[in-house]
Amino acid sequence: MMVKIGIIGAGAIVRRAHLPTWKKISPDMVKAIADIDLNLAKKVSEEFSIPIYTDDYKEIINDPEINIVDIATPTPTHFEIIMAAIDQKKNIIVEKPLVLTLEEAFKVKRSIEKNGLKLTVIQNYRYYPCVIKTKMRISMDKIGQVVSINGLAHSKFPSSWTRGKWLYHKAGVLYDFLPHLIDLIIWLNKSDPKYIYAIGGDSIGQKMDFFTNAQILIEFKNGTLCSVNTSWLTGSNILRLDIHGTGGHIFLDVKDNTFLEVHGTFTPIDNFRRFLNEITSLMKRIANKSFFIGPIYYYLPFFKDFLTCLEFDTLPKVTIEDALKNMAILDAAKISIENNEVVKFDDLIGKF
Ligand SMILES: NC(=O)c1ccc[n+]([C@@H]2O[C@H](COP(=O)([O-])OP(=O)(O)OC[C@H]3O[C@@H](n4cnc5c(N)ncnc54)[C@H](O)[C@@H]3O)[C@@H](O)[C@H]2O)c1
Repeated sequence: MMVKIGIIGAGAIVRRAHLPTWKKISPDMVKAIADIDLNLAKKVSEEFSIPIYTDDYKEIINDPEINIVDIATPTPTHFEIIMAAIDQKKNIIVEKPLVLTLEEAFKVKRSIEKNGLKLTVIQNYRYYPCVIKTKMRISMDKIGQVVSINGLAHSKFPSSWTRGKWLYHKAGVLYDFLPHLIDLIIWLNKSDPKYIYAIGGDSIGQKMDFFTNAQILIEFKNGTLCSVNTSWLTGSNILRLDIHGTGGHIFLDVKDNTFLEVHGTFTPIDNFRRFLNEITSLMKRIANKSFFIGPIYYYLPFFKDFLTCLEFDTLPKVTIEDALKNMAILDAAKISIENNEVVKFDDLIGKF
């Protein structure tokens, strides 16, 4: 299949990650780019030698030659654009999070399945070597049954990433960095949630119109208990997971790509091993240059995997089921914070 890509959105993530990655895979694969800011679309098309630019995304999805639509617009716009692209029988890559509500996620899932198309959500953090190693160690039963998971997903506020204010809507922080952490948890833990309870929102009284800080508790059907904190209030950029099993522990600093497995009680020697791990990882990341671009480095294997799944008609690495589960947890956390109630996952899913 001759692949032609149309990109919708010419913002920060497209310029820094999508376009440099597509260009690396094949210099003339991207046929067109759309942004409601026509000047930006023009500027980016010139910078990356893209033949067509437009301010109307429909021109992209109506182009019969384009078979993959790559959507990287603000999250609140994803649903409308995805549904329009499905109507035109396009395969879709969309930035995380898939959409804004579980109801929208179900509509997307049904429509994708009905039309026999492929859709994936960009969860590039799955490709960090420390995450892949964790997946392998858990699958090999090296830490036994996972008893509990503690996670941290902190990002900066106001966002230094984009100048757009679209992130600051209703459930705010839940839809920023957290979807990456939730994706890792559901991928590593391979179980559906049973109950979800969340507290926070605007917990330190900043009188914002949106959530800035939240703690989420999840009980999974396989018995794993999980606690996650996500915040815009610490000014840090952190993505961490501590995974505790009946036969050992794994401590992950995803952003720093460090992995530490401990069996038995944590001792000062483990602290020394952690230090060595961090130094080794830092040197490797400087040598392969991933240190300078962080998570953007992992767009390459992600995009290549999607092309392979189209070629061989297999499931994408991040499936629509994964995305739906992620959305359900975000939705449940939002409902739980708003109503101060425990949300039963099956009841929530059963509504749709
Ligand atoms: N996977 C990751 O690590 C990662 C990192 C950053 C952002 N993201 C995601 O990428 C998406 C975009 O984020 P960003 O930081 O690039 O945002 P941004 O605000 O920098 O860029 C968004 C662009 O979309 C354009 N746009 C808005 N509505 C449009 C429409 N209807 N049609 C065409 N263009 C439209 C805007 O003009 C803007 O240029 C979000 O969903 C975000 O969550 C993912």
